[in-house]
Amino acid sequence: MDNEAANQKDMASKAHADVHADEKATVDGRTAKLRVFRGDAAGGEEVEYEIPLVEGMVVLDAVLHVQAHQAGDLAVRWNCKAAHCGSCSAEINGRPKLMCKTRVEEYDGGEIRVHPLRAFPVIKDLVSDVSWNYEVSRGITPFTTSQQAPFTMYEEDVERLYEPKKCIECFMCQDVCHVLRTHHKHAQFAGPRFFVRNQWLEMHPMDEADRLSELKERDGLGFCNITKCCTEVCPVDIHITDNSIIPLKERVADEYYDPAKWLMRKIRGR
Ligand code: SF4
Ligand code: SF4
Ligand code: FES
Repeated sequence: MDNEAANQKDMASKAHADVHADEKATVDGRTAKLRVFRGDAAGGEEVEYEIPLVEGMVVLDAVLHVQAHQAGDLAVRWNCKAAHCGSCSAEINGRPKLMCKTRVEEYDGGEIRVHPLRAFPVIKDLVSDVSWNYEVSRGITPFTTSQQAPFTMYEEDVERLYEPKKCIECFMCQDVCHVLRTHHKHAQFAGPRFFVRNQWLEMHPMDEADRLSELKERDGLGFCNITKCCTEVCPVDIHITDNSIIPLKERVADEYYDPAKWLMRKIRGR
């Protein structure tokens, strides 16, 4: 066996190590039923699987058990199994959740329907194509400064910057936002995840770029009507609407709708 094949075997055995070990610790012989979306961009349907219920089992464990024992071709994306990487986001009973942070017991023996994120095109089964998000990210004006690091900053500035940096790019806020999910305004709206990123950049005291016109004209900040659905699903508790979107809206309003600033822009011709 060459090195690459040995590495792949090792990775595969690590990926399923818990799944096999779990069989020894099933809860009183009980089982759980999952209805998992099987299909691709052309369409698909839910397929029911029954798995042995293991104490502390999360939905990702259950899906991996199905993959290991009943449906080897089931596509699922995951990495850390510790709510850090953001890869395993899916819709469980219609609500975006991290599969590795959602316990099967939460559903108390009831229905567990697992689907891919709906705001993006499905590739296969539980894997959707989230690459549009990375295109949006690349379009954001990067951190720009003429200062030399390390920077000296006030503690309150550092604290303000801490929250948006917690983002794990699970894209569940993007998935739940009606502007993308229902109205499909991907071409005109960057989405809550990127308002969080813009907030970090705009509030960084050493950053010298101005992204307000991008936010207003290109990124569609005005489409957000502060429903707070994005905040409710964020697994790392970023207060997306209160701490990112509303302050950015206030800055855009100050810049573009303040009569004195409006007059100055007219005089300068921009
Ligand atoms: S608050 Fe704004 S960005 Fe968040 S889900 Fe609602 S409309 Fe979308
Ligand atoms: S802001 Fe929260 S919900 Fe949105 S991508 Fe980041 S971690 Fe996920
Ligand atoms: S596997 Fe990394 S967040 Fe779930």
